[in-house]
Amino acid sequence: MKQRKISLSFLLLLTNILVFGQKKQPFYWGVATAAYQVEGAYQTDGKGESKWDFLTNKVGITQFTIGEKQTGNVAINMYDRTQYLKDLALLKQLGANAYRFSLDWSRIIPDGTGAVNEKALAHYDQLIDDVLAAGLEPFVTIYHFDYPVVLMQKGGWGNPAMIDWYMNYASVVMKRFGKKVKHFITFNEPYIEFFLVENMLHEQENKHIPPKEYYMSQMQKAHRQLIANAKAIELYHSLHLKGQIGIVLNVNPGAAWNANNAADVKAANFQDILINGLFLDPLYKGKYPQMAMDSLAKYNPSFQPSASDLAFIAHNKPDFLGINFYAPAVVKGEDSAMSLKWLDNNPDAVKSNVGPVMPEYLYKMLIRLKKDYGNPTVYITENGTGFAGEDVVKDGKINDPLRIDYIQRHVTWALKAKKEGAHLGGYMVWSGWDNFEWVSGYTKRLGLIYVDYKTQERIPKQSFYEYKQLIKKHKGL
Ligand code: FCB
Repeated sequence: MKQRKISLSFLLLLTNILVFGQKKQPFYWGVATAAYQVEGAYQTDGKGESKWDFLTNKVGITQFTIGEKQTGNVAINMYDRTQYLKDLALLKQLGANAYRFSLDWSRIIPDGTGAVNEKALAHYDQLIDDVLAAGLEPFVTIYHFDYPVVLMQKGGWGNPAMIDWYMNYASVVMKRFGKKVKHFITFNEPYIEFFLVENMLHEQENKHIPPKEYYMSQMQKAHRQLIANAKAIELYHSLHLKGQIGIVLNVNPGAAWNANNAADVKAANFQDILINGLFLDPLYKGKYPQMAMDSLAKYNPSFQPSASDLAFIAHNKPDFLGINFYAPAVVKGEDSAMSLKWLDNNPDAVKSNVGPVMPEYLYKMLIRLKKDYGNPTVYITENGTGFAGEDVVKDGKINDPLRIDYIQRHVTWALKAKKEGAHLGGYMVWSGWDNFEWVSGYTKRLGLIYVDYKTQERIPKQSFYEYKQLIKKHKGL
């Protein structure tokens, strides 16, 4: 029997190689970053001004959130090749075989549309070569929250032309790097971009708009991003580049504050739909969840997605789904689902920077993707944490037991789902390095590697060494 099993899988592998010209993919272990959070060099090599350059430098956005102006102008200096080569060497030391990073649209097409900046393309070409030379599979996020400010000034995703502007940029990227990069990501976390960050940023400005109306008005932008995602997937497939393209969603399964309280359970279910179903259903089932449509009919009746748009999205499914899992959305009955109230609910005694530590919800989500969404290939493209006061240097070392415990437990639950048939292909920690954490600036450290922001010195934390052991233990998965 055993003998038969072996020869069967050998045959399958052989068929794969002969028919598809592909070897079985290894399980990917890695870390993730995003351009604005790590690169710095905000005016180097002809880079244009981006939305986040503008928000941090001109609006001074972190002043409102952390009481101090901070920017990604220098960040952790990773645009600099001397610096990033040392950083890639650390990933090699970690035993990783994948690295997820993003490209900066404002470097590649500084004015958003029009002339392409060859210096930026050459830079990323070199980076991709260096990543490959370090034995790392590049997972390249084409768009991670940031884009040229000139496009924001024209309305950004509020403008229907944004789809074409994005397609123009995405096509430059795919054509230039598609031979070497075998995993592209169209977008990162549309929910967080539109319903969380923009909602936060606009809370002051849009006081005159009732909150639920404002919240639901964001749907048009999210829908456009899903159309752009489908168009990018269609284009990628038409180029026959022999790789995969996917999208990354944050997943925050709804969890009742008190599972014995019917109101909490009901609210958690609705919140779950507005965070997860809102994106998973159109991508995999070609429709928005009915409960979301009902609220849209009430608060944003102008949102009328056409049947052909939805069919187009479902027809151009991603080859893989990237999921960023940090925590479930813990919800109380009185919370409005069209708000960010859930972010404040955390029953943990010691609270992390990224919500309650409940790794079993990662397992539940992976099983749900298997059961309800056709078991797509899934990569955990972000998972990680930070606790105030934990990341301090003592005798040249950083001891971070809470992060270690978090990572170990999440990996255990994720691998349990894989064992039970979930099609899980990789796991990446957010982040490799402490970096610029958007509206929180440099106040939240989430890296496996400590960064001294003044000197740019790197010190691997204890969690780096523990993650290294985990990777070693599961090699060959
Ligand atoms: C995610 C973002 C990532 C990082 C982590 C902590 O929402 O994708 O850039 O900020 O949160």
